[in-house]
Amino acid sequence: MTATQSGAVEKTTSEGTPALHVEGLWKIFGPKGDKIINTPDAQLSRKDLQAKTGHVVGIRDVGFDVAPGEVFVVMGLSGSGKSTLVRLLTRLIEPTAGTVELYGEDITAMSDSALLDTRRKKVSMVFQHFGLLPHRKVVDNVAFGLEVRGEKKGERRNRAQEMVDLVGLSGYENNYPDQLSGGMQQRVGLARALAANPDVMMFDEPFSALDPLIRRDMQNEVIRLHEEVGKTMVFITHDLAEALKLGDRILIMRDGEIVQIGTPDEVVGAPADEYVRDFTSDVPKSHVLTLKWVMRAPDGDPGDGPVLQSNQIVRDAARIVLDHDGPCRVADGDKLVGVVDDMDILRVVVAEDEG
Ligand SMILES: Nc1ncnc2c1ncn2[C@@H]1O[C@H](COP(=O)(O)OP(=O)(O)O)[C@@H](O)[C@H]1O
Ligand SMILES: [Mg+2]
Repeated sequence: MTATQSGAVEKTTSEGTPALHVEGLWKIFGPKGDKIINTPDAQLSRKDLQAKTGHVVGIRDVGFDVAPGEVFVVMGLSGSGKSTLVRLLTRLIEPTAGTVELYGEDITAMSDSALLDTRRKKVSMVFQHFGLLPHRKVVDNVAFGLEVRGEKKGERRNRAQEMVDLVGLSGYENNYPDQLSGGMQQRVGLARALAANPDVMMFDEPFSALDPLIRRDMQNEVIRLHEEVGKTMVFITHDLAEALKLGDRILIMRDGEIVQIGTPDEVVGAPADEYVRDFTSDVPKSHVLTLKWVMRAPDGDPGDGPVLQSNQIVRDAARIVLDHDGPCRVADGDKLVGVVDDMDILRVVVAEDEG
């Protein structure tokens, strides 16, 4: 959460400009939300504010940056404000206060027409229910956004077919949505979102309604697509396993507030509070934690064991450590930062079995 000020200076420097910059963002639902924001009532808990005024705090003073190309996951229980947050980012819900910048462009200050243009060209949303048009073929569903923004028929057909192929639906382009399984319909939604070649893709629990196996396929599909197209993604989920699998970083929300922002290993290795600890208690730690979290300071001679990198996942390093007699060295680039031996590895694995 950097608190860089918005303004002209930042807009002229594309280097280092985040894909998304969010600062002081609030949403108070209710007729007088904007009046409440600058009063002491805004500091009341969600429950107390609702009891006193009937207003609901959707999002409270949220700020974060998303780097270009990053997969940024927002996670929290149902009702924690995830959908509100993602809708605020493109003003599908109007913020009560705060700023959202997309590659340095202030979304919150945009005219309606500029905003519409941004939504059509720069951001794609993928929801749990894709809202595919039932009377249109797959390829025409995928091309829909291109049609809306006035692209020629031949061009949008070509682009749509490319996207159909990219998401693994080649051969189904002339089918209608109701002829496809749920998982395949989600792929159509993904293709449609990709067709616009947006700067940022936003996903609001797109796979929550799918069976676990299909869900896993779709998560892998998102990872593959991200590797291929490198899009910045904001991905909402209530499922920690999904968050850990997909996220470069994870924002954890409770009652409309940020509880923690961190990489998967930070969230699991150093949960900010009991709420996060509860979420992470069932996670197989060795699959998420890196050696940084299990290594010890080298007391005295670090030995001449194999050198491992501190950002290596414990599970991936386990074989080398267990096969080697004596400690392995842990480095951060060229710099020696610790040692790790069999016990350090086993401690993590045993803790997993104990839950
Ligand atoms: N239009 C609205 N009017 C009043 N309260 C709302 C509205 N939309 C959402 N809320 C409330 O805001 C909170 C956050 O909702 P939401 O963002 O949908 O959470 P999530 O997506 O994490 O389940 C909930 O308490 C919800 O009831
Ligand atoms: Mg939601």
